[in-house]
Amino acid sequence: MFHRKIISIHKGISVSDGAGVKLKRYIGTEEIRFLDPFLMLDEFRSDNPNDYLAGFPDHPHRGFETVTYLLEGIMEHKDSMGNKGILETGSVQWMTAGRGIVHSEFPKQKTGLLRGYQLWVNLPSNLKMTKPGYNDYLKKDWKFLETDNFILEILSGEVSGKKGPAKNLTPVLYFDFKIKPNQLMHIDVPENYNGFVHMISGEVESNQMSLKEGDLGVFSNGKYIQFQNKKDSISQGIIVLGEPINEPVVQYGPFVMNTEKEIYQAIEDFNSGKFLK
Ligand code: CO
Repeated sequence: MFHRKIISIHKGISVSDGAGVKLKRYIGTEEIRFLDPFLMLDEFRSDNPNDYLAGFPDHPHRGFETVTYLLEGIMEHKDSMGNKGILETGSVQWMTAGRGIVHSEFPKQKTGLLRGYQLWVNLPSNLKMTKPGYNDYLKKDWKFLETDNFILEILSGEVSGKKGPAKNLTPVLYFDFKIKPNQLMHIDVPENYNGFVHMISGEVESNQMSLKEGDLGVFSNGKYIQFQNKKDSISQGIIVLGEPINEPVVQYGPFVMNTEKEIYQAIEDFNSGKFLK
């Protein structure tokens, strides 16, 4: 099979997380428990401050990475390593929780639209206890590729010889695409990576499946992705693919390890303050 097909379409499930922030969860639900190496995908999108102002007060993570892509709005991040950063429209924070981090994420705006994604990328067993760290990537840091038919902004991985800026521990391809009106996008991708497309606006078709704004489509494996935009306006979305880790996953909230014993250790380390070093 060379052509990646859309094997299922998901509308997401409304959840509340942090101090009561309203989100749509697409991965990490009953429908898609896990899409190796992806543990969770949340979309936050609201112009009602009551949905987002409470933010995400101090909370821990261990054993994976979080990738936050802000489509619209301003967020502030602080963590136990002493890092602090402001995430603005079009920028991304790629945080490696590794052996443990405690951080907070708060909207810096009082009104207006807050929109974006948070993705959790699992780490292989030999990297779960790596040193925590993070990088912010502004939109101007992404690699830009434009053809007659489409525009790609590449955050991570390589497409058509263009390589995104993100440093990868688990190999991930992450890009934002815009297909021009009534055009076709065809791109070659690694055959065995698992992944998905999520539509930001407009509509695309692939193997008789139609994906609309807010839809998440899960890909079969294959060597290329082909989307048709039959609309008279631009269709936009994100495509994210990752190399499967193929290891056991034991998750307890924000701790994701390989065994139950490692989860008990994570809880003990967190309770004894080891995440704060
Ligand atoms: Co967090």
